[in-house]
Amino acid sequence: MKYTHHNNELNIKNIGQEVYLKGWAAKVRNLGGLIFIDLRDRFGLTQLVVKPENPFYDIALKIRNEFVLEAQGKVIERENKNKNINTGEIEVEVSKLTILNTAENPPIIVSDDTDALEDTRLKYRYLDLRRPVMQNFLIKRHQITQAIRSVLVDEGFYELETPILGKSTPEGARDYLVPSRIFPGTFYALPQSPQIYKQLFMVAGMEKYFQVARCFRDEDLRADRQPEFTQIDIEQSFVDQEDIIPLVEKVLVKTFKKVLNVDVPQPFARMSYQKALELYGSDKPDMRYEMLISDYTYLNQIELPLFNGKDAIRGITLENGSTITRKRIDQLALLVKKNHGEALAYIKYSENQYTGSVAKFLSEEQLNSLKLKENNMLFIVPGQFSNVSSALGALRIELANEFKMIQDQVYKFLWVVDWPLLEYNEEENSFSAMHHPFTSPVDAEVLRNNPKDAMAKAYDIVLNGYEIGGGSIRIHNQEVQRLMFDTLGLTEADITNRFGFFVDALKYGTPPHGGLALGLDRVVMLMTGTTNIKDVVAFPKTQSAKDMMMQAPSDVDQKQLDELNIKVGK
Ligand code: AMO
Repeated sequence: MKYTHHNNELNIKNIGQEVYLKGWAAKVRNLGGLIFIDLRDRFGLTQLVVKPENPFYDIALKIRNEFVLEAQGKVIERENKNKNINTGEIEVEVSKLTILNTAENPPIIVSDDTDALEDTRLKYRYLDLRRPVMQNFLIKRHQITQAIRSVLVDEGFYELETPILGKSTPEGARDYLVPSRIFPGTFYALPQSPQIYKQLFMVAGMEKYFQVARCFRDEDLRADRQPEFTQIDIEQSFVDQEDIIPLVEKVLVKTFKKVLNVDVPQPFARMSYQKALELYGSDKPDMRYEMLISDYTYLNQIELPLFNGKDAIRGITLENGSTITRKRIDQLALLVKKNHGEALAYIKYSENQYTGSVAKFLSEEQLNSLKLKENNMLFIVPGQFSNVSSALGALRIELANEFKMIQDQVYKFLWVVDWPLLEYNEEENSFSAMHHPFTSPVDAEVLRNNPKDAMAKAYDIVLNGYEIGGGSIRIHNQEVQRLMFDTLGLTEADITNRFGFFVDALKYGTPPHGGLALGLDRVVMLMTGTTNIKDVVAFPKTQSAKDMMMQAPSDVDQKQLDELNIKVGK
């Protein structure tokens, strides 16, 4: 028997109709002999009612939560209407009822408000995913992926696949390795991204490529990171930054319109990397609220040892923050320290009085120059510029959350542009690539002569404080690519060993090209309003990269290890 309706469809207009429904028993109640069953499918709930005189009453009595049912019956008007659901004005008086399958008492409550711990939810993920709220995440993910795909296809991009078993690609994380049985002692690496392959598609002349690409990175996990995640990976030939940026904006604008019916204004805002650090203390600023960082480095002249001679002294002003308690300030100071800040100083202005940890060390003129208004609290962090930035960046987010400055369902996109090409490590006197080593310098001569000043043709796309994508124009000239590898300290042998094939490929007529990859999981996360990336991944891993359901990683048979020529030290 095929169903005639989904469980969200029936309403007052269907009264008197004979219907067939299927689904799971979400809730069973026995009220004075009448049995009510909420029948659930991925669309919604319909209430079934079975009276004592019904020949199927005995079957109804056996039904428990999560039994799989098939019901036939007539739509009738409900006495006690439920205005909260589509089908709340009707119920189905059952004329035939079949139990298609029974279910044990589930270890988690299968409804939007479950009280199960995350580990339990992950262990029984198939039950967790039966919850409507979780199904909505999966459905939205599908819609978003399809919307993005259709924009790119309309723009003439080909969806091409690249290998999972490959060679290490440098995206800055540790690789997941797969041992080779045929060549003992050698390993494939799972791709951290398809970066090299997509560039080789450009060498091959495919011109416009995209892929919904699975990527693998063994790195410290956070709320917006998974060890395997999905990119919408894009590459195009004969382009510069001003071609890729509008393309990606078009993909995002159309996707937001199609899936959320939200109009995102174009062009998106842009900010240089340097400005982002100066004003927001972050290379992925959340533009939904102000509370910008101000510079008070001139205070490094005063006697106070905390400030004297410091590279940078900067702060943020919290409006109506003068009531914040000492205890809370102590906690905020810990947050500042955790984010590389030396210390947290503060000045409070209320009733024409300046108080707080450092107020008495400032002259009246200096205090007035802070331009504080009534009930303002100024938080100041001294120290080295980048440390001050990260400390104030973290403090800004914390305070914005605490003081409810962040509006829901507001989408503020930002391009962060004008990146340095390299990061310099003073202790090791070495350079590393700020993005990856295939990113083109703005000027190769600056890279050659003064690498610390070299700028990159790179761009990140940020949404509401999350980096949702990153890309660049690539190096297409083999000499420049070699220079880049040299600057990064790779020896001739390293280059040949790791990237020989790639440097070779660049010799055979490589077009100028560039691209970007969107982090699909993060895009879905933001579009569905969650802050936990696990919500939008069907079968995610825990913070320690564990699959709770399959219990992976796991031991393997000795025979498998022997075949791979691997000895495991315990
Ligand atoms: P990048 O390393 O910036 O660039 O990655 C692109 C985007 O992927 C997302 N992302 C992640 N999402 C979830 N979990 C993770 N562990 C994770 N790591 C990254 C982010 C990020 O912006 N090959 C280049 C792209 C290019 O240059 O075209 C690359 O991989 O949203």
